[in-house]
Amino acid sequence: MKRLVCVSNRISLPRRSAAGGLAVGVLAALQRIGGVWLGWSGETSDEPRAEPEVTVRDNVRYATIDLRSAELDRYYNGFCNSTLWPLFHYATGRFRYEYEDYEAYQAVNAQFARQLAGLLRPDDVVWVHDYQLIPLARYLRRLSFDGPIGFFLHIPFPPLQVLRVLPSHAEIVRDLCQYDLTGFQTEDDLHAFESCLELPAHAIAHVRNGSQLEVDGRTVRLGVYPIGVEADEVASEATEAMGEETVQRLIASLLGRKLIIGVDRLDYTKGLTERFGAFEHFLTTFPDNQGKVTFLQIAPLSRSDVLAYGEIRLALEQVAGRLNGRFGEADWTPVRYINRNFSHATLMGLLRASQVALVTPVRDGMNLVAKEFVAAQDPEDPGVLILSPLAGAARELTGALLVNPYDKRGIALALQTALHMPLGERRRRHEQMLGAVRRHDIHHWYREFLRDLTGERILGDSAAAATKSVDGLPQRESGRSGGRREVGAGRGVQDGSR
Ligand code: G6P
Repeated sequence: MKRLVCVSNRISLPRRSAAGGLAVGVLAALQRIGGVWLGWSGETSDEPRAEPEVTVRDNVRYATIDLRSAELDRYYNGFCNSTLWPLFHYATGRFRYEYEDYEAYQAVNAQFARQLAGLLRPDDVVWVHDYQLIPLARYLRRLSFDGPIGFFLHIPFPPLQVLRVLPSHAEIVRDLCQYDLTGFQTEDDLHAFESCLELPAHAIAHVRNGSQLEVDGRTVRLGVYPIGVEADEVASEATEAMGEETVQRLIASLLGRKLIIGVDRLDYTKGLTERFGAFEHFLTTFPDNQGKVTFLQIAPLSRSDVLAYGEIRLALEQVAGRLNGRFGEADWTPVRYINRNFSHATLMGLLRASQVALVTPVRDGMNLVAKEFVAAQDPEDPGVLILSPLAGAARELTGALLVNPYDKRGIALALQTALHMPLGERRRRHEQMLGAVRRHDIHHWYREFLRDLTGERILGDSAAAATKSVDGLPQRESGRSGGRREVGAGRGVQDGSR
């Protein structure tokens, strides 16, 4: 049986689960199938080890590497999160570019490839995840690995006119053609990528054959694989968490008021300032709701060393303060805005305890909070999802109230509609959405991708994989050595991107 080796920048280490849909999706695949997961440890070190540090838990072998802090700054804060992230989310106003960041991005990708090559066996199947590691296949091929390599982009892919803002756009497109299979969240992302093959000035010579492309003598297949959630597990986590103290205390504190919830990493793509503005508009336009509803926004901090994230944090603090100052009463705070995170199970309980969820990103690859909200509801008395059409999830969750994230009036009206929606309509909408969430769950996502990548079912999908030997790696318990600093690892919130 072939062995699965996943590679991503962020990984979900045992006892330190990471923020983001990527971490949750890959973990679900690996726990079921077994295999190796290589990624950044989340720490910096002045002298990174020559080999990855390995921790084994159940049937997953976690191999982590540290990055030097200067390297991390240019690669992670720079090219990944100040260049590619805004660009791929169509946020050209936030886009920054420095050639040195691009060089660091290449250097870190080459380093990932070297570390990976050291632990690969010839019949391994490699699955690379997300924008941080686009050039990885090119470097790995140079190191003579010729097994299957797949790539999945968890975030949106922008159309040509947006991608062209990046000086090295042609390399990005070419590198995505170095894989055997390159997957996207939605048809829109796939079409945007296809549009980029026709780059003016450096059109990429290719021959098309259905979903296959011949580029530089290689064949790459393109596909759409919308990521999902573990629907049944979310449902049981949510039901159980309703008995948890945190959830019970929240419910008690509401004094019978209805609860509107938002759960997002603090990121400008999530539409948070727009959402707060819309809630303010809602309280103004429908004043009967004053004192009767509470809006809980959970927004764990993320990428705090990137300028744009500091700016959005300040902006949110201002708007939350203004709103509470303007509408608050001695015994009622309209917005509860918190930056701390909760365990995944508690979050699921909080989603179940809410009557309405606001998932209004201005651009999002998928958004797994939307799917988790649906899976977490009581089907007998479900809450209502208000969803941005600019999230990948909107393609599947047609039972949501779809509303433009910039349209304050639209969101205010959707809130009013949701809070007063009759039970029959709530159930009908929820049934449609639950069906979609269950059909395209997390197991469907990785099975389809890996079947297309390997042309077979490598995937025993059983714990038998646990007995596979994983040679060649030094095995240590992950004791945290001195001189290393943990950087930006969150817990619980996903985005998938969520
Ligand atoms: C999104 C991205 C992931 C990333 C996650 C958390 O989901 O698609 O690649 O891991 O956000 O962001 P971070 O920068 O903390 O890894």
